[in-house]
Order: sequence, then C-alpha cells, then structure tokens
Amino acid sequence: MAERKWQGHVFIGMSVDGMIARTDDDLDWLTGGSEETPEDAGFTAFMELVDHMVMGRSTYDIVQSFGEWPYGDTKVLVLSTTLKTGDSRVEVVRSFEEAVARLNDDGARHVYVDGGRTVRTFLAAGLISTLTLTRVPVLIGEGKPLFGAIPADIPLRHLETRTLNGGAVQTRYAIG
Ligand SMILES: NC(=O)c1ccc[n+]([C@@H]2O[C@H](COP(=O)([O-])OP(=O)(O)OC[C@H]3O[C@@H](n4cnc5c(N)ncnc54)[C@H](OP(=O)(O)O)[C@@H]3O)[C@@H](O)[C@H]2O)c1
Repeated sequence: MAERKWQGHVFIGMSVDGMIARTDDDLDWLTGGSEETPEDAGFTAFMELVDHMVMGRSTYDIVQSFGEWPYGDTKVLVLSTTLKTGDSRVEVVRSFEEAVARLNDDGARHVYVDGGRTVRTFLAAGLISTLTLTRVPVLIGEGKPLFGAIPADIPLRHLETRTLNGGAVQTRYAIG
C-alpha cells in the first residue's frame, strides 16, 4: 500500500454551542442574517488548496439536495456502509480504512474532511492538520455536534481569527 502524503483539513460552520446541523439536518440557522458570501468566508480559497474530499453519507445526502455541486472537479469520496449510488461525481468507500487507503493510493496531498462523525473519526486518528471553524452567532440548543469523545486531548495552535459580516467569527487552528 502507498504511504500517506496527505494532510486532512476541516472547514466548517457551527453554532456557538457547537452544532453543525439541527437534529433534522436543517441548516437554516447557518446563513440566517449574514450577507457574507462563501468567497468572503474563504471557501473558494480553501477549495483551491484541496485536491480530495472525504464526506460522510449524511453530509452527502444534504449536499445532493442543494441543486448546485459546490466542489467542482475535486475528487470526492463518500464514506458509507449503506449508500448505493450511480453518482459519477463521487466514489463510495465502505470504511475509514478504505478511505485512507484510497487517498494514499491516489497520492492525495490536501484532503477536505466533512461531516460530524467523519471529522471525529479522522481527528481521533490524528489525520487532521488544520481546523477552520466559523462560529455563527446563534445558539440552537439541540442538534448534531461537531466534536465528541476523543482518546486523548488534542492541543490546538491558534493561527488566525477574523470577524465576518453578520458577526460570525472564523478561527483557524493547526494541529501538531
Ligand atoms: N455546518 C456545516 O458547515 C456542515 C458541514 C458538513 C455537514 N453538515 C451537516 O452535518 C450533518 C451530517 O453530519 P453527521 O455527524 O450526521 O455525519 P456524517 O459524517 O456526514 O455522516 C455519517 C455517516 O457517514 C458514514 N460514516 C461515517 N464514518 C464512518 C466510518 N468510519 N465507517 C463507515 N461509514 C462511516 C455512515 O454512513 P452509513 O450510515 O451509510 O454507513 C454514517 O452514518 C448533516 O446535516 C450536514 O448537512 C454541516
């Protein structure tokens, strides 16, 4: 098997109380009130950095419903034990180990890791090197969290914080 040459990156929007979606997957709270475009929030520049993406099946289900595919030609792996798809924009991988092997074999360099459970899996495995967290100024109380149990503390190095229009606060951290 090829060796790993890639680093994982997280770029994600969350409520101040740490959620990335409501329990029913609604994202209405995420853009509510903000006039910031994704480009202003740095998503376009971030996508220029990455060559591969891994997302969980739940995130794929939601992104598919957007109408517009936001990832251009970036190679997208969907992590799922259940998904049956003929969608030529993605490749399904059945386990974390298969995802890692595929990225290694592909010679990936910068991998966008997305979806709560998926991010937690890659974080716990030590495969995330940057976190860009955009905290939207709202508390939603219940929902799907970004973070959860980890085997040991993960020290973060603060790189940058900026305030976006509408009061969202974007912070970049490095790990390791
Ligand atoms: N706020 C934001 O910026 C943002 C960004 C991304 C996502 N989201 C939202 O977050 C929600 C989804 O997050 P989520 O935490 O529910 O999960 P997720 O990571 O997107 O998807 C979880 C699913 O991925 C598969 N999976 C994950 N890890 C796996 C593993 N190690 N092995 C095999 N399969 C694995 C499983 O699919 P199967 O059940 O098919 O096996 C699992 O049910 C959605 O509502 C999405 O819109 C928000």
